[in-house]
Amino acid sequence: MSEHKVTLWPSGEILEITGDDSLLAQLKKAGKKIKSGCGGCATCSDCVVIVKSGEMNLSPQTFEELRLLGNVFHITKERLSCQTRITGDVTLDISAHEKAAASGSASKSAPGRGQKSTKTIIKKRDDIVRAEIESKEKSQEKPSGDWYRHWENEGDDANKPKRLGGNKRVKPFTFNDNDE
Ligand code: FES
Repeated sequence: MSEHKVTLWPSGEILEITGDDSLLAQLKKAGKKIKSGCGGCATCSDCVVIVKSGEMNLSPQTFEELRLLGNVFHITKERLSCQTRITGDVTLDISAHEKAAASGSASKSAPGRGQKSTKTIIKKRDDIVRAEIESKEKSQEKPSGDWYRHWENEGDDANKPKRLGGNKRVKPFTFNDNDE
């Protein structure tokens, strides 16, 4: 049975892999936590790994993989580990999975960290009624200050025609006799 090396980037850890199982299964066997929502059915794209080198030593992309990730491997360097088999030595980046696993275990070990607070504020009926009355009173209050209905306080000025902007006449066009 052939044996292949999988080098993990950036740690440089080397995994010895034997057998024809998918990359996902091989990595899981080696104790790596790789997310796989659909269990290897090529429908979730959780199990994506990034190929750093040795892409020629991976099995060609299946129809299911192409349908999910598109034909953009040359840009993203991403492969579905559940659909990929190794035929030689490769270097992979699975740091996203390791980070996710680490943050998941951290939030489990320390409850409340990394989780949203679900504290519910319970208000009594009286408080709600009081708040409603206060907000109504506020909205009916006459705002103070000079700006409130300032047009009612203008007095005589209110009847004056307003001078609109500009106030400049266009000069009539004249010929200069000297020009001719
Ligand atoms: S595990 Fe879901 S696509 Fe690979």
